[in-house]
Amino acid sequence: MASLLLANGVRALRRSPRAGTPRGAFCLMGVCQECVLTIDGVVRQACLVAARDGMAVSRPGLAA
Ligand code: FES
Repeated sequence: MASLLLANGVRALRRSPRAGTPRGAFCLMGVCQECVLTIDGVVRQACLVAARDGMAVSRPGLAA
């Protein structure tokens, strides 16, 4: 999922809860937690989820 979003120009995946600054995928291997999204109603690391048609994705603090 994270790679698909990056390939389509989506860099900001969430906002920092403390500073409110945009955050995006960093490690792309499940370590940094910077890519956390709500995917099909579950909070998950986008870099560990394979994208498929029909998924519901939202970015915490950002427009869908
Ligand atoms: S980019 Fe680091 S956990 Fe997903």
